[in-house]
Amino acid sequence: MSDVPTSSRREFVKVAGSAALGASLFPVDAIGQAPAKRRYAIIGTGDRASGMWGSDLVKSYSDIIEFVGLCDKNPKRAVVARDLIGVPNCPTFTNFDEMIEKARPDLLMVTTVDGFHHEYIVKGLDRGIDVMTEKPMTIDEVQTRAVLDAEKRSNRKIVVTFNYRYAPAHQKIKEILMSGEIGKVVSVDFSWYLDVIHGADYFRRWHRLRNSGGSLLVHKSSHHFDLINWWLGADPVEVSGSGGLQVYGKNSPFRGTNCRTCPHKSECRFYYDMTKSQRRMDLYAKCEDVDGYYRDGCVFREDVDIFDTMSAIVKYSNGTTMNYALNAFTPYEGYRLAFNGEKGRLDVQSFERQPWTVADEHEIFVTKSFGKRTHVPVVKAVGGHGGGDNRMRDLMFRKADAPDYMKLPDSRAGAMACLTGIAIRNSIDQKKIVKIADLLKV
Ligand SMILES: NC(=O)c1ccc[n+]([C@@H]2O[C@H](COP(=O)([O-])OP(=O)(O)OC[C@H]3O[C@@H](n4cnc5c(N)ncnc54)[C@H](O)[C@@H]3O)[C@@H](O)[C@H]2O)c1
Repeated sequence: MSDVPTSSRREFVKVAGSAALGASLFPVDAIGQAPAKRRYAIIGTGDRASGMWGSDLVKSYSDIIEFVGLCDKNPKRAVVARDLIGVPNCPTFTNFDEMIEKARPDLLMVTTVDGFHHEYIVKGLDRGIDVMTEKPMTIDEVQTRAVLDAEKRSNRKIVVTFNYRYAPAHQKIKEILMSGEIGKVVSVDFSWYLDVIHGADYFRRWHRLRNSGGSLLVHKSSHHFDLINWWLGADPVEVSGSGGLQVYGKNSPFRGTNCRTCPHKSECRFYYDMTKSQRRMDLYAKCEDVDGYYRDGCVFREDVDIFDTMSAIVKYSNGTTMNYALNAFTPYEGYRLAFNGEKGRLDVQSFERQPWTVADEHEIFVTKSFGKRTHVPVVKAVGGHGGGDNRMRDLMFRKADAPDYMKLPDSRAGAMACLTGIAIRNSIDQKKIVKIADLLKV
């Protein structure tokens, strides 16, 4: 049974909206002809924009997407991105309004640093443009409110690109839970491990600053919280969290500015040689004279103000409780997840990188109470995020068939996911339980 008052659940649903999206951003016209090409623009032309939302789209969706504008506050990076994407005739901009005026896009991709997503989502919607945004949708409750209000007054669509949902293993988990095999889910154990390679990389980049990425509880965990909301078919209601910075930031006797110029290269276990990646040298090193941004920044800089160790208890509208943990310095990468149901338990272990050999990237078992344990096979898929990236893009841009539970994540899903992390961050700062509905009363 839920201990959440029904009124606060209703209130949240009311303030967050409940728009549902169809399976494509390209509506079929009445006589079923192919739709015209969409005029596509990107704001924030870094790594994600150049690959997943750039060159990959040119490769597979050029018949339906026309690149009309690329905008970044760093003009050099916009030009490097244009080369990487392979659209030599696409104009580049440093001013968003000018891009919208001159390029007249009808579809906007937002791939800036997280802390600026809201600004461009709102501007795009207010100009009558459909918006796709990378996760997290926003990094604080005021920004979330602004996005939801803008969507309401614009009548346009937002898609939040939660690609993790589309990994075959994650769809399989959803289907097992929907089948009722383990009964009503009472509690969830969810521990995510970011290793000393990937985890450390967040502390090299803009993600180390709260006002850029909202902390890993928002930047990274919004993926995890979206999965849980979707798997459970429930809303987060209240959270309590704890967190600390135990390994990176000030926790070192020495530090530098960035690895390429560091006097501590030989003694630092986190030394990273960016010169080995031509793509990163082009996208970042060649552009650092403009904005002073170092892609290989020192993980021990004293300005790191996010946590590397986080845990939380989250209560959901259906009465489920989750114990969640995220650590960013483990020797291997992946997650352990278990759903404890009234009739059994669903165990999942994901192996993303580890110093031993594994047979499968995901191990899934269902154990029935008073019964047997069954191994659940998962189809292997190629491509980023367990094949999720390709499947999501097909769903967005092609008329791909998909069951209703695989529909594209909307602004409500985006809000629920980032608000969970925002609430946990606030709970750590304020040392108290935080209710999600209270965050949207701003
Ligand atoms: N879904 C996923 O799996 C996934 C994976 C990686 C990144 N992302 C998301 O994609 C986005 C981009 O990440 P990235 O790795 O490409 O980062 P990046 O640092 O490579 O690129 C960010 C770009 O935004 C630009 N920028 C920053 N502030 C701006 C502003 N106010 N106006 C215009 N441009 C601005 C920067 O100059 C940079 O070019 C982030 O929101 C990140 O969370 C999602």
